[in-house]
Amino acid sequence: MDRIAHSGTNALRILLVEDSKAEAVYIERTLMQATPYAYRIKRVADIASAKDALEAADFDVVLLDLGLPDVVGFSGLQALQDLAPKVPIVILTSRDDRETELSAMENGAQDYMLKDKASVSALNRSMLHAIQRKQIENMKSEFISLVSHELRTPITAIHGALGLIAGDMETDLPQQVSHLVNIANKNSERLIRLINDILDIDKIDAAQMYYEMKPEPLMLILQQAAETNAVYAARLGVKVWLEPSPEVTVNVDSKRLAQVMANLLSNAAKYSPSGSTVTISVQSQPSGRVRVNVSDQGPGIREDFRAHIFQKFSQADDALTRTKQGAGLGLYICKRIIEHMRGSIGFDSAAGHGATFWFELPEPETRTVRETNVIKARAI
Ligand SMILES: Nc1ncnc2c1ncn2[C@@H]1O[C@H](COP(=O)(O)OP(=O)(O)OP(=O)(O)O)[C@@H](O)[C@H]1O
Ligand SMILES: [Mg+2]
Repeated sequence: MDRIAHSGTNALRILLVEDSKAEAVYIERTLMQATPYAYRIKRVADIASAKDALEAADFDVVLLDLGLPDVVGFSGLQALQDLAPKVPIVILTSRDDRETELSAMENGAQDYMLKDKASVSALNRSMLHAIQRKQIENMKSEFISLVSHELRTPITAIHGALGLIAGDMETDLPQQVSHLVNIANKNSERLIRLINDILDIDKIDAAQMYYEMKPEPLMLILQQAAETNAVYAARLGVKVWLEPSPEVTVNVDSKRLAQVMANLLSNAAKYSPSGSTVTISVQSQPSGRVRVNVSDQGPGIREDFRAHIFQKFSQADDALTRTKQGAGLGLYICKRIIEHMRGSIGFDSAAGHGATFWFELPEPETRTVRETNVIKARAI
């Protein structure tokens, strides 16, 4: 149902996603009172139709009701952002609580508005504010992406050269020089990881991350992840243990799943006391989903940090008190990857008793339980 509230060359194109007819009519009528602003409003009643509308036409802003029939929580917001990452979204809700407001913003909305406060001027201000905010966000992420791309080539060359010197030529170097080359080499590696994470986030946020989903043997992926990441853990005096379990097939992008494991394992090792073990275990859930746990014996996750742990750039310690390396991007990337693979991610932690980060993947298509396929227990 297309309505032109006020026609004009600069009419603001609004997609109103609202299932309650009465509330939609109220918003439309409110907007129609506006002068000199002009609005072109298209109303739809669910996320599926909102997606169709966004695919079919351009919009300047989306007004999104939170309680739609075909979505739970913020998944509708996520779906629209994935489809049209450059279009700002204002959440409309009748729930006046700070937590929902914060969650809406954390989940990528540009603004949040209570329906009963939706006067014409408040709506107009909110939409213009959202558009401006999104424009700045888009410019910022384009700039970051450009800089990261430009940095990646030279830093990769520097890292390659340092790697050669630190490896093949190490014995020819005076001890002090070799020590310095090693430090430079490790730091160039950190820089590459950071640049790759920033570029990944950029791709995820622009919905341009490419996934090659196919049936893959989970235990084999976990075994390879344990072996690869054991080197980093060993430097910190930490062992990695993969609990034996029957092989199971999951529908995933194996490289992206390895990326998730690399971050969960590096976090677990980073926060583990020296001499302890990080354990990977697999459980079949009653729902048919498969859960992978990565457990450590570190300090666990502080109560006040729990709600923020999966956000971009979020770290429990601030820059001045931080003793561990990292940029706070890993868990955000993990969450987006796992959710893209139709899974979920979370953690259990009692402060002081370690942390278990887990993810669950959808029910596998086939299940092989032959005894010969049991991956051998190993401490790496
Ligand atoms: N196993 C863990 N035990 C204790 N704290 C953890 C654990 N895993 C994550 N955290 C906390 O969560 C924060 C975010 O983790 P995340 O992996 O996103 O970032 P990072 O490891 O700091 O940096 P990056 O992964 O980008 O290199 C960490 O900085 C840390 O404060
Ligand atoms: Mg990390």
